[in-house]
Amino acid sequence: MSLQSEILRRRTFAIISHPDAGKTTLTEKLLLFGGAIHVAGAVKSNKIKKTATSDWMEIEKQRGISVATSVMGFEYRNYKINILDTPGHQDFAEDTYRTLTAVDSVIIVVDTAKGVEAQTRKLMDVCRMRKTPVMIFVNKMDREGKDPFDLLDELESELGIHVRPLSWPINQGFSFKGVYNIHKENLELFTPNKQSISESVAFSDINNPELENYVGVHDANKLREDMELITGVYSKFDIKRYLAGELAPVFFGSALNNFGVKELLDCFVEIAPSPRPINTVEREIDPFEEAFSGFVFKIHANMDPNHRSCIAFVKICSGKFERNVNYKHVRHGKMMRFSSPTAFMAQKKETVDEAYAGDIVGLPDTGNFKIGDTLTGGEELHFKGIPSFSPEMFKYIENADPMKTKQLDKGVNQLMDEGVAQLFVNQYNGRKIIGTVGQLQFEVIQYRLLHEYNAQCRWDPISLYKACWIESADAVELDNFKKRKAQYMAKDKSGRDVFLADSGYVLQMAQNDFKNIKFHFTSEF
Ligand code: G4P
Repeated sequence: MSLQSEILRRRTFAIISHPDAGKTTLTEKLLLFGGAIHVAGAVKSNKIKKTATSDWMEIEKQRGISVATSVMGFEYRNYKINILDTPGHQDFAEDTYRTLTAVDSVIIVVDTAKGVEAQTRKLMDVCRMRKTPVMIFVNKMDREGKDPFDLLDELESELGIHVRPLSWPINQGFSFKGVYNIHKENLELFTPNKQSISESVAFSDINNPELENYVGVHDANKLREDMELITGVYSKFDIKRYLAGELAPVFFGSALNNFGVKELLDCFVEIAPSPRPINTVEREIDPFEEAFSGFVFKIHANMDPNHRSCIAFVKICSGKFERNVNYKHVRHGKMMRFSSPTAFMAQKKETVDEAYAGDIVGLPDTGNFKIGDTLTGGEELHFKGIPSFSPEMFKYIENADPMKTKQLDKGVNQLMDEGVAQLFVNQYNGRKIIGTVGQLQFEVIQYRLLHEYNAQCRWDPISLYKACWIESADAVELDNFKKRKAQYMAKDKSGRDVFLADSGYVLQMAQNDFKNIKFHFTSEF
């Protein structure tokens, strides 16, 4: 197969949802269709569910599982599908943001009863920033939920994206009869059964009186009315708007009952984008370029302290990656080759000889890589767009064992390169501040410093509201600001200026007083 056709058949995406909406169940059903697994229950839920925050066994278990399920590749109808898993626990949200930089599209799972929930909203913000094409699967239609029209309104207003139903439910809960697949003009009839695939009847004209035979008079009429309303309210599905990230097609179903999943998958492979061009500081990279390029979006450390090795996950952005070929590690300016790159098929990791744009390869690493690093065939390229977001929680990190200063510094640096949390150095007093999304990350850091680096840390409280990356074209004002706020000025790991605002009010005052300074809540602007 030519390079072009290999790349064209790739679909790399992530499933995102608020915990419990059904992401794991949907992932599993997709894998069943791809023949990647054979029994239900094979995909372990990648989350620290219903446990106390400091349950170490659970964290370790989760980390162990998440290597295997970080990327799940499978073949379906001559498409090569790569599902990138995202951590379920919200304290690892930063990990999810980074994973979203490596996908070409996204499927959002929403619970029909709960509608749009907090975490989904946040993740959608990231998709919107990146103009990622989004599809929505409304799950758990076998349960009572919101009125589907109300839900569509909620999706539009809460997620800030236009929607267009491509399937439509006939009732829900106990009286759920199935969906009308608008995209394929099929009637999909629901049987509550976890293993079988639904009965599908071609039905191009819902005014055909035969509809009554399948769903009864009442529901047939209701479906006709609903369809009329849909055609009146929503314009025709426009694939260009979907690909531009402006319009999300919506499907209804029940992942647990394997209902509506095949329809979703069939439509997905047809309309979801193959790898898309990616921006670098230097130029736009087209996936079909012969020369290989890729970037590290995730680093997974081995929890076994005796083998301090990591896996760097590289998204291939262009061309073909080959085993044992020399590639340039742009930040180090040196050539490297990889004798045992791994690809991820189903839930197995295996060594691969080649992989194409759209694929993810795992490179065993002993500290050469950090998040955002670029690998190329030789060109100097720097990928853009792996942003850090302002952390939500901050603590001073202090050395609790003066004999182990070196170990602590090394550990902190490596863990930050891995993207576990963010480090800021206060320029006034030189103290190190760690910023995280949730409490769990502090515990992970402390635990890993001790077990992997033999270093001990202590946390000292600091009350901060946000970290803002600042810039200004007005050097005098910038200088002025830094002097005025000297106690609150820090540098991030890349040496950029960060203002640590201790309250929303202080931040607002600073924004008012220094009009020529831009305050950013992400590191990429
Ligand atoms: P998540 O990864 O998004 O967190 O959700 P997950 O798939 O683990 O699903 C959360 C719960 O919702 C699970 O039940 C799952 O069985 C259930 N579920 C998923 N899809 C459907 C559906 O279409 N209909 C119904 N009725 N339930 C669904 P649980 O009791 O929390 O877990 P388990 O004990 O069944 O594993």
